[in-house]
Amino acid sequence: MTASQFTQIYQHNAAAVAQELLQGLCAPQAFTSPKYLYDALGSRLFEAITEVPEYDLTRTEAQVMHLHGRDMARCVPAGACWIDLGAGNCEKAGRLLGPMQAARYVAVDISVDYLRGALDSLQRQHPQVPMAGVGTDFSSGLDLPPELDFSPTQPRVLFYPGSSIGNFTPDHAVSFLGSLHSACGTAPVSGLLIGVDLLKDVAELEAAYDDALGVTAAFDLNLLLHINRLVGSDFAVRDWRHLSRFNAQASRVEMHLQARHDVRVCWPGGERLFAQGNTIHTENACKWTVPSFDALLRSAGFASTRCWTDPASRFAVFWAWA
Ligand code: AVJ
Repeated sequence: MTASQFTQIYQHNAAAVAQELLQGLCAPQAFTSPKYLYDALGSRLFEAITEVPEYDLTRTEAQVMHLHGRDMARCVPAGACWIDLGAGNCEKAGRLLGPMQAARYVAVDISVDYLRGALDSLQRQHPQVPMAGVGTDFSSGLDLPPELDFSPTQPRVLFYPGSSIGNFTPDHAVSFLGSLHSACGTAPVSGLLIGVDLLKDVAELEAAYDDALGVTAAFDLNLLLHINRLVGSDFAVRDWRHLSRFNAQASRVEMHLQARHDVRVCWPGGERLFAQGNTIHTENACKWTVPSFDALLRSAGFASTRCWTDPASRFAVFWAWA
């Protein structure tokens, strides 16, 4: 059996998307949701980011998984249904399905077309594991579609790697993690396997989001082209520069696009003037310590946690349950 089930919940509502984007662009401090970074080119640029020397999150997470995989497999239940949040190319989960003895795999991602191809090829590699894809925007909470017929007795592993949780502000992270706690369902031993980037030297953090090759800058600037398509605006990439700055108070790296000179941006029915130096805040990447993230998991309702890190404590993987 090689045909995976595919459910599309996310209905692309062009008017609502344009309205949400314009509301952010017109705010005193302009901002956009990071989900708009991932159009087809953005998803490919993000993959390229994971290979630049300065961005070590993905490699370090893989190292943690590799170093502590056996120990993790003793915590994470065998025979579970894996629910991969923001599955993308499904590569990370693909490496774990065998060792962790997954019995079912459900990939969830906002970028549906990308997901479809990745899931088909993963299904060919694991013909014995039933797989399904869900195209949805889960950023405001995870609702699992009933047509996937989740068993109340099969343990679930919610898999949220890559420190994507960093996109949420702490308040929002608690409510989002709370929705994941609910999605664990009622089977005992179900839990959340989540990757978290740890606080480290500020220069290193800022460089990870502003690499010398300019791949992250291209990733950030590409957002303007995506916005042009979504709202019909006339952003010119050359008018903007990419910035990465650490906000110590909020413990996060912020990405901004900064106007190189006074810029007027027009769209059907409106316009905004950005003075030289004004920015559009395009992403937050919150950084935690092991104790601060542990506390976050507990306030979201998880009563028990385990944590593994690389030897230099740059990245942590938590298993949270109950
Ligand atoms: C995919 C959200 C985890 O914040 O590190 C990488 C996205 N942005 N470089 C991150 C990102 C710029 C990434 N996450």
